[in-house]
Amino acid sequence: MKKLIIEGQRKLSGEVKISGAKNSVVALIPATILTSGKCVLEHVPDISDVRILIKMMEQLGSHVTFENEVLTIDNKDVKNVPITEEYASKLRASYYFMGSLLGKYGKAEIAYPGGCIIGSRPIDFHLKSFRKMGTEITDNDGRYEFVAPTLKAVDIFFDVPSVGATINVMIAAVLAKGTTIIRNAAREPEITNVATLLNSMGAKVHGAGTDQITIEGVKELGDGYVEVIPDRIEAGTYVIIGALLGDNLKISNVVTDHIASLLYKLKEAGVKYKVEDNTITISKANHIEPMTIKTTVYPGFPTDLGQPLSTLLTQCDGESLFEETIYENRLRHVPYLNNMGANIKAFDTKAIIEGPTPLKGKKVKATDLRAGASMLVAGMIASGTTEITNIEHLLRGYERIVDKLNKVGANIQLIDEEE
Ligand code: EPU
Repeated sequence: MKKLIIEGQRKLSGEVKISGAKNSVVALIPATILTSGKCVLEHVPDISDVRILIKMMEQLGSHVTFENEVLTIDNKDVKNVPITEEYASKLRASYYFMGSLLGKYGKAEIAYPGGCIIGSRPIDFHLKSFRKMGTEITDNDGRYEFVAPTLKAVDIFFDVPSVGATINVMIAAVLAKGTTIIRNAAREPEITNVATLLNSMGAKVHGAGTDQITIEGVKELGDGYVEVIPDRIEAGTYVIIGALLGDNLKISNVVTDHIASLLYKLKEAGVKYKVEDNTITISKANHIEPMTIKTTVYPGFPTDLGQPLSTLLTQCDGESLFEETIYENRLRHVPYLNNMGANIKAFDTKAIIEGPTPLKGKKVKATDLRAGASMLVAGMIASGTTEITNIEHLLRGYERIVDKLNKVGANIQLIDEEE
C-alpha cells in the first residue's frame, strides 16, 4: 500500500510540464491491434495504466518497447487470445480490446472491465452497437464472448454522448463492411487523437471531434504513428493548484482550448493567469469569488476536474454550488474534505460549498483517482501534515506527480508501506 505525506502551504514556482493524456493513450494502445504492422506513439505517459496495457499487449503477442516517452508496438505476431480478469479488471479501458479484437478477428473474449467506483458505469451502448454490427454476445460468468461472422457497418445514435462507446465503435468500424455513422458522438479531444492514429494506419474516419463521426470500412491497415495529446485533466489539476499556491508557477505543454471551461470559470472568479503559446503562468489568488459548477460532456466542465476543483471551492469567498451530471458517485471525497475543516453539504450529486474555510492536515483516503487529486490539493493547502492512503488510484492517472510537485517547491513524500 502506498501513501503520501504532505507538509502543506508551500509556495510553488518553477515549471511543471504536462504529460501525454491518460484517456487517449489507454485507447490508442488497444486500437493498434487492428494492424499487423508497427505503430509508434510519442509522448506516452509512464503511468500504471500504460504498464498494464503493455502487459496485455504482450500477452496477445505484441512486441513492445517503451523508452523516453516513445511506445513502439509491433503486432506482426499478435494472436487472438482471451483477455483474462487478471488484467481486464485493473482498468476501465480494457473494454477497448472489445472493439479492436472484434474488428480484426470477428471474435473476442474479454473479462469485465474494471475502473474507479464512481457510479454504475454501464457499457450497454458499446454492447448494443456491437450487436447491431452483427455480433452475438454471450455474458459468461464474468467475461464477454463476442462472435461476428461478418462485422457490418452501423448507423447508430447514442442516447447520451459516451467517450468509451464512441471510441469503441469507431475502432470496431474501421475494418467493418460499409460505412458506419455514429450520431450524438462524444466530442472529447481524446476521440480525435484516436482517429488520428487510425487514419495514419489507413483508416477512413471523418468528423472526429464533432457529434457525427463517419467511418468508411477499409480492407486492411498498415503502420501507424501518433503524438499523444497533452493530458487536459492533469493540466487542469495543476492550474487549480497554481491558483491556490502558485508564485508565477508555469504549466507548460497545455492545449489551453481543451481546458477552456476551467480557465473561463477561474477568470470570472478573479483568478489571474497568463497564457503564452502552450504555457500558463499562474499565481495564488488572494480573493476567489464563489462559483456555480455543473459538470457535463466536452466542451463543458469535465467531470474529471470536478473533484479537484471542489477543494478550491472551499477557499472561495462565499457559497459555491456544485453539480455532477455524469456519474452518481463522484462525491465520496466530501467527508474527508469536511474532516479537514471544509463546510460542504452534499446531496447525492449536488453540493453546497461554503468558503473560505482553512483546512487542517489529517489522515484521509483517496477513494478513486480524481478523489485522490482532490485530497492532494487539500493536503497542499492545509496547515500541518496530511497523510493520504490508497494513492495507487492517484498514481494511475498522474505521471510522476510527486516529483513534478516537489521540483516546484512542494514537500510530499511517497511511502511504500511494503518496503
Ligand atoms: N454510459 C451509459 N452506457 C454506456 C456508456 C456510458 O449509460 O454504454 C453513460 C455513463 O454511465 C455516464 C455517461 O454515459 O453517465 C458518460 O460515460 P462515458 O462512456 O463517456 O465514460 P467512459 O468512457 O467510461 C471516460 C473516461 C472517464 C471520464 C469519462 C467522461 C476513460 C478510460 N475514462 O469514461 O475518465 O470521466 O470518459 O469524460 O477514458 C478518469 O479519468 O478519472 C475517468 C473516470
